[in-house]
Amino acid sequence: MFASFSTLFATSAAIACIFTPVAHASPTSAGLSARDDYAPSPILPNAQSVWTIGEQGLVTWNKSLVPSTATTIPWIDLYESSPFGSAEWVVNLAQNADPQPGEVLVPVPDVAPGSYFTVGAWGQSSTHFEIVAA
Ligand SMILES: *[C@@H]1O[C@H](CO)[C@@H](O)[C@H](O)[C@H]1NC(C)=O
Repeated sequence: MFASFSTLFATSAAIACIFTPVAHASPTSAGLSARDDYAPSPILPNAQSVWTIGEQGLVTWNKSLVPSTATTIPWIDLYESSPFGSAEWVVNLAQNADPQPGEVLVPVPDVAPGSYFTVGAWGQSSTHFEIVAA
């Protein structure tokens, strides 16, 4: 458990560094690759969402807005904001998710419970939601 989370931490940080600049720099490269990255705007989790540690959290977006050519959401990460502002990265929740279904279930990590979590899907953020202990 710890080993796999450590790996995810490291991998996610690396991916965030590598892919974010590429996304902005190469809008025309999509046709050259079988992979077409997509950044959804999360609908869930929202302000009414309560995720329980150790269970599955549902992340959704509007699938009718997903281009038929889109193949990959490079990463979906968990962030936590202070009540006063800045969001800090907590952990990677999913990598290379399929955008077409409009939803993905992710494992809710063992974090300190709180009400100021957000999910970021390759740059797009959800509203704040709550994570509670099992
Ligand atoms: C999804 O997007 C379509 C097309 O813009 C829109 O008509 C629909 O209301 C959206 N659904 C939701 C749940 O936002």
